[in-house]
Amino acid sequence: MHRLLQRQIKKHFGNLDSIPSEWQGFLDAIDEAYCQYDDDHKMIERSLELSSEELLQANHQLRVLLTTVEGQVSERTLELTKANLELEKALIDLQNTQVHLIQAEKMSSLGQLIAGIAHEINNPVNFIHGNLNYLGDYTRDLLKFVKSMEQCCPVMTKDMRSLAEEIDLNFIQDDLPKIIKSMEVGTKRIREIVLSLRNFSHMDEVEFKRVDIHQGLDDTLLILDHRLRFNANAPDIQIIKQYGDLPLISCYPGQLNQVFVNILANAIDALEESQLQANAQTANDYVSPFIRIQTKLISDRYVEIAIIDNGGGIPEEIQQKIFNPFFTTKPVGKGTGMGMAISYQIVTEKHQGKLTCTSVVGKGTNFSIQIPIAM
Ligand SMILES: Nc1ncnc2c1ncn2[C@@H]1O[C@H](COP(=O)(O)OP(=O)(O)OP(=O)(O)O)[C@@H](O)[C@H]1O
Ligand SMILES: [Mg+2]
Repeated sequence: MHRLLQRQIKKHFGNLDSIPSEWQGFLDAIDEAYCQYDDDHKMIERSLELSSEELLQANHQLRVLLTTVEGQVSERTLELTKANLELEKALIDLQNTQVHLIQAEKMSSLGQLIAGIAHEINNPVNFIHGNLNYLGDYTRDLLKFVKSMEQCCPVMTKDMRSLAEEIDLNFIQDDLPKIIKSMEVGTKRIREIVLSLRNFSHMDEVEFKRVDIHQGLDDTLLILDHRLRFNANAPDIQIIKQYGDLPLISCYPGQLNQVFVNILANAIDALEESQLQANAQTANDYVSPFIRIQTKLISDRYVEIAIIDNGGGIPEEIQQKIFNPFFTTKPVGKGTGMGMAISYQIVTEKHQGKLTCTSVVGKGTNFSIQIPIAM
């Protein structure tokens, strides 16, 4: 008999013998139920054991799966980051190519235009300049002749006298040599300008060569000369040249001139802007606008060209962006935002140099170009 049933019988009836015999069938049924319960219990325990084992196994498998998935995710993330970096690089390359193309376009069209104009002016000016010598000689001879006529025949006829008065012969004699002199000065200046334009465009020398940087700066200043003068209400921009003793520099002269134009044009824009602002306020706010150009040898390998203006300066948050292609603070139509990007590329990539900018708002801006004497 099941031990639990035995215990219950003992508890309630004292011993097994005191149970009436007709209950035997009932007791057997209860005993069977107890035994059945035990079997069921054992089965449930076993199946619970199995389930928890399965659960542990499943848990383990899940962990393994999770680790694999985590590995795959980080692998994918790495791949994506790599792809992203490649895309960014491709974008930068694309932008650089674009800058390159625009630069080449700007350079060649500007160069061609300037070279074309210089060529067109050159011929007639040479014609005038060449003939001015003869004109001078002839004039001197004629005046000599008139003088000797006056000495030979001091008494003029009435007609001659009235003609001399009418044409103001004395004044002509005095003024004619002066006119010829000033024409000589004028054509000499035009020839200088033409020469500068030719040098500037360097159409015939897109090559790498050794040049005098100061000549390039002077040519560039001449091209921008008209922009240095404001109107009657504002003082002209003063150019302060502080040229050091520099050797010839091996460079692409046309491209370097392009850098000078871009930086100088920006300085002029900034000075114009400050003058406009000063005009809008009181006359006391006038500061004399200047651009200082300093050149010096900074080591036995490098030279520095600093272009400094006392314009409005560049706020710090903008300073980091000025070399970005298409970044401009100028109104639509005035600036393309390419000047500094092109200059940066020319200085750093083409010449293995450095182009840096320091600026204080309200004080001015300093652009420093450092390039090797020979690459
Ligand atoms: N000397 C300077 N003083 C003040 N701001 C300057 C100076 N030089 C450059 N900047 C700032 O840098 C910006 C970018 O100059 P960048 O020469 O690249 O373009 P831009 O002058 O606007 O147009 P462009 O391509 O026609 O030259 C300018 O818009 C201006 O805000
Ligand atoms: Mg510019």
